[in-house]
Amino acid sequence: TGNVTYDPGFMNTAATKSEITYIDGDAGILRYRGYPIEQLAQKSSFLETSYLLIYGELPTTAELEAFDEKIRRHTLLHEELKGFFGGFPREAHPMPVLSSAVSALSTWYQDSLDPFDEEQVELSTIRLLAKMPVIAAYAHKKSVGQALLYPDNSHNLVENFMRLTFGIAAEPYDMDPDLVKALDLLLILHADHEQNCSTATVRLVGSSNANMFASVSAGINALFGPAHGGANEAVLKMLRHIQSEGISPEEYMEKVKRKEDGVRLMGFGHRVYKNYDPRAKLIKETAHEILGKLGGNDELLDIAMRLEEKALADDYFIERKLYPNVDFYTGLIYKAMGFPEQMFTVLFAIGRLPGWIAQWREMMTDPKLKIGRPRQLYVGHAERTYPGL
Ligand code: CMC
Repeated sequence: TGNVTYDPGFMNTAATKSEITYIDGDAGILRYRGYPIEQLAQKSSFLETSYLLIYGELPTTAELEAFDEKIRRHTLLHEELKGFFGGFPREAHPMPVLSSAVSALSTWYQDSLDPFDEEQVELSTIRLLAKMPVIAAYAHKKSVGQALLYPDNSHNLVENFMRLTFGIAAEPYDMDPDLVKALDLLLILHADHEQNCSTATVRLVGSSNANMFASVSAGINALFGPAHGGANEAVLKMLRHIQSEGISPEEYMEKVKRKEDGVRLMGFGHRVYKNYDPRAKLIKETAHEILGKLGGNDELLDIAMRLEEKALADDYFIERKLYPNVDFYTGLIYKAMGFPEQMFTVLFAIGRLPGWIAQWREMMTDPKLKIGRPRQLYVGHAERTYPGL
């Protein structure tokens, strides 16, 4: 096997060159297409950030309007695709429903599957951006047994998602602009993060020339794992566990440090950030604001803040450079907004979608595109003989 390097978890192996996202994990820096995340959080919208990631530049006003308009025109799901949601058990987690429905898009939209046809790639881009939030909202509606609403294209992407998720068919939906703004910010902060597990998955699947729907569906499944996007749900479970068991944050920290039952402080640590995750910093700032306004669960926020304070001063965490990551506070905010816990990772997926699309498109237009095919070090048996021969 000659030149094979053993690098489990791809700690040191760059599988691609990319112009999309820059991270300096030691300094806690994150930039999309060169723009610092703090500036985008302050000035941009999720729609504009999506455009920036996918097309490489900030749009002009006219370009943004045209992009918005195109997305609004593609929000409807094929009526037969809506029937698909009835095939899952009522208690189904919305993440596998989402990945299944996104995968199934390639059966209903067969005119946009060619990864090397520019127009088809553009069409599948718009279709995914427009339809995935609708699919996500429907997965939720099914789980609570409510009627699916039609999108209302007088609303933008994020507004439509809020209405489809929380609106009731028989009643007008009272849109809270503060909620929409908060969700928009959280989606911006999740929009890309270079070669994380789900994005690397999207690239690996796409490298076989699989279509965009198939590749993104695989990414959604990768994101579902609790060590990745599932961490936001796991953080809330952890905080509730601490609350209901009446354990003090100090006692819980001792358990984590003893690695008892493999317990980890969820929402802490990151493969790349060995400093405060810049997204967590921005979220922490808004968490208080949003929870103050929405009347979130103060006790859980209180536990979270105490855990954070303890961890940042504790040698175990200092030595291992473990800081809060993006997921530490998001669950609390989503909960205060009224999202059920099962939807937290779905929200992450909606946020990460433009990043997946941008990375997939960057790869497909790379003239040096090669199929992803890791090597291995074989450590099994040497040749042996089948019994009886
Ligand atoms: N709590 C306690 N100890 C930890 C934690 C934690 N959250 N994270 C890492 N460690 C310890 C780990 O036990 C190991 O210690 P030792 O050297 O004594 O064996 C050391 O720190 C290094 O950990 P690692 O698992 O080798 O680090 P990694 O880069 O492979 O893992 C991680 C990164 C994010 C999977 C991990 O930190 C973790 O499991 N965190 C909790 C889950 C979480 O919050 N995930 C969200 C990640 S950010 C959002 C996203 O991109 O999805």
